[in-house]
Amino acid sequence: MVSKAEINAMKKALKLAILGGGSTFPNPMVGAVILDRDGNHAGDGFHRECGAPHAEVIAIASAGDAASGGTMVVTLEPCCHHGRTGPCTDAIISAGIKRVVIAMTDPDPRVNGEGIKQLESAGIEVETDLLAASVRELNRVYLHYIETGRSWVTLKIALSLDGRTAAADGSSRWISCEQSRRRVQRMRASVGAVLTGAGTVRADDPELTVRLPDSRPWSQPARVVVSSTGDFGDSWKIFRNPGRVIIAVPEGVGARLTEYKDLPGVEVWEFPADSGSRSISLVSLLKRTAAEGLGEILCEAGSDLSTRLLRDELVDSVSIFTAPMILGSEGRPAFELLGIDSIEKAIRLDNVSSSRSGSDFLTEGSIVYRAD
Ligand SMILES: NC(=O)c1ccc[n+]([C@@H]2O[C@H](COP(=O)([O-])OP(=O)(O)OC[C@H]3O[C@@H](n4cnc5c(N)ncnc54)[C@H](OP(=O)(O)O)[C@@H]3O)[C@@H](O)[C@H]2O)c1
Repeated sequence: MVSKAEINAMKKALKLAILGGGSTFPNPMVGAVILDRDGNHAGDGFHRECGAPHAEVIAIASAGDAASGGTMVVTLEPCCHHGRTGPCTDAIISAGIKRVVIAMTDPDPRVNGEGIKQLESAGIEVETDLLAASVRELNRVYLHYIETGRSWVTLKIALSLDGRTAAADGSSRWISCEQSRRRVQRMRASVGAVLTGAGTVRADDPELTVRLPDSRPWSQPARVVVSSTGDFGDSWKIFRNPGRVIIAVPEGVGARLTEYKDLPGVEVWEFPADSGSRSISLVSLLKRTAAEGLGEILCEAGSDLSTRLLRDELVDSVSIFTAPMILGSEGRPAFELLGIDSIEKAIRLDNVSSSRSGSDFLTEGSIVYRAD
């Protein structure tokens, strides 16, 4: 049974957790609040970034002596292993906390219920599942990484009303309105990397950076370009702008990319080609991006790469801008063949939201893949 004060404390802990933004990956975003023995707020904290102290430790320090005999309300099961910092369970036990209220257990195999067991063995009362759905949504990138080892992929597309992403000649600037394009820049600032295919680089010469009019120091995502040939030809903006750029190619192709390898910030990643083709395994790419700390990826590609990602069930959510224009069936489709031959095989969205974005509509949702 949880008290009103504990529910309010969990709401506060959730708000604090959000302050960790995208900087905690591969760790989760966590917030913690301490209530003293009379149920009054005594301290709080959140996990600011990977390698920094955990929320629980900061909250205990901020509560001081008031933590003893009090309650900790925390968004995720406290860790019980030695990672970059010491176990939070030890800190909670030493602080004399008598009760811990947790939103959800941590599926990290090093924790996964063990943190709760350690607290209970020390005589601490533990309550779980308070506001768990909200915490799950907040930490979807982390939970996906623990489950799959991959980065979370959001596919962003600008479509005409009749579902086309470019005119017959390949021109697609601009389908979406200025307000939507600014929104995309903010999306880029919130992810670890932007992913595209060589086809889009050749057609549009995009920068894929954050360029917003205000003076805030927006964080720039890494830019990842996939190519089977490594044929880029001319001097594309994506390789010339400052920042981290990753060119992902099949093994053997990297040797030909000396011109790019020497540019500041440019890395060439080679992967074995899928059997019988020159395509790299996109699963391997997304495992490598996750291992390099790029938890969330915004894919801004043409139909070829977007289709491959969907076919391999690697798209986790979509952000689709629909603009009030018609391009006809001579325009380029958003996707190529997906093997959907009847309506029950359609790929559907869950948790859908729809909003106006200037003259466009933005539909967002998580992808639901069929089990069979
Ligand atoms: N409206 C929109 O939201 C939007 C967004 C982006 C692009 N576009 C439009 O889309 C068009 C370009 O479409 P597209 O389908 O050609 O471009 P794309 O999907 O961005 O790029 C396709 C290329 O990516 C590489 N590639 C994809 N998967 C790969 C894999 N598994 N392994 C290795 N390489 C891989 C290949 O490069 P190689 O050729 O080097 O083998 C392939 O030709 C342009 O007209 C552009 O304006 C529209």
